[in-house]
Amino acid sequence: MVKIGKSDVNATALGLGTNAVGGNNLFPNLKDETGIQIVKTALDSGITLLDTAFAYGMGHSEELIGQAIQGYDRSKFVIATKAAQDTSNGDVTINNNPEFLKQSVEDALKRLQTYYIDIFYIHFPDDQTPKDQAVAALNELKEAGKIKAIGVSNFSLDQIKEANKDGLVDVVEDQYSLIHRENEDVMFDYLRDNNISFVPFFPLASGLLTGKYSEVVNFPETDIRNGNPDFTGDRFASIVEKVNSLKPMAEKHGVDVAQLVLAWYIANPDISIVIPGAKHPEQVEKNAQALKVQLSDDEYKEIDNTFKNI
Ligand SMILES: NC(=O)c1ccc[n+]([C@@H]2O[C@H](COP(=O)([O-])OP(=O)(O)OC[C@H]3O[C@@H](n4cnc5c(N)ncnc54)[C@H](OP(=O)(O)O)[C@@H]3O)[C@@H](O)[C@H]2O)c1
Repeated sequence: MVKIGKSDVNATALGLGTNAVGGNNLFPNLKDETGIQIVKTALDSGITLLDTAFAYGMGHSEELIGQAIQGYDRSKFVIATKAAQDTSNGDVTINNNPEFLKQSVEDALKRLQTYYIDIFYIHFPDDQTPKDQAVAALNELKEAGKIKAIGVSNFSLDQIKEANKDGLVDVVEDQYSLIHRENEDVMFDYLRDNNISFVPFFPLASGLLTGKYSEVVNFPETDIRNGNPDFTGDRFASIVEKVNSLKPMAEKHGVDVAQLVLAWYIANPDISIVIPGAKHPEQVEKNAQALKVQLSDDEYKEIDNTFKNI
């Protein structure tokens, strides 16, 4: 089990990303029933962290998770959610105001049908709120037992430092994968020195690191991957070649490249919990096998080097 920052929250090193559970604003053709099955499959497969957000379906992902977890022992899994999107004026604006964040937690608790949220992230920074004040509001909720760990997401290093002025930030969630490694230089030293956990998003590079692509794909206009430079031109071809080069190692372990890649994050000392998303319960079942893959030091380095300087 992995401990989150300075909190008492512990979870398996593999979680479930749920932006495709009820996230109809991000992906087309999602079915609620499939979303619920995805969550149940994760919990049945020994995965103990569910990563969601208000922004996934504007509350719908949280609602489906609230339904899916009924009948499961709440003390055996961890829910992480996020907020900052203020829809009170009809548009979506980013809001880190302390009172807004406190109300966001209350609203999320209702949708999730639970008494506490294990990890609550400020999803995006706004331009006006001092970040330590936003975090101080979350600390009040932590002291009241409504949340158990404080996180920030999509914050620059300076914003993380401001948020962590009083040492209250437990975890940072930001983009990081074998093909997007900027944060190794940007924030890993600071996070390590300050006992802040790191949870990478897009760990499978939105499916590209699973080994299932050989030709350029055209995603529907309503899919967030539409226009993603990783999926186009020479960059796409180079990533696919490198991913395919891992197939013999994956076969040796009896898994697909997706699970081999997930095992690399699990073995990476700078990564706390890896949260691949899924569109089908079968993908969750397969990804859960990553917890059993033991990479040797040489295999870890080989995967690492394959994607250096991409
Ligand atoms: N904090 C933030 O701002 C932020 C931003 C983005 C994401 N997130 C979180 O991070 C999580 C992970 O990101 P993500 O889900 O967008 O991307 P990801 O984990 O990089 O990729 C997930 C996608 O890969 C495909 N896939 C997964 N397992 C597979 C398997 N075994 N075989 C073949 N294909 C497989 C599925 O898509 P297809 O079946 O369509 O290929 C799945 O939806 C999200 O769910 C969300 O919880 C947070």
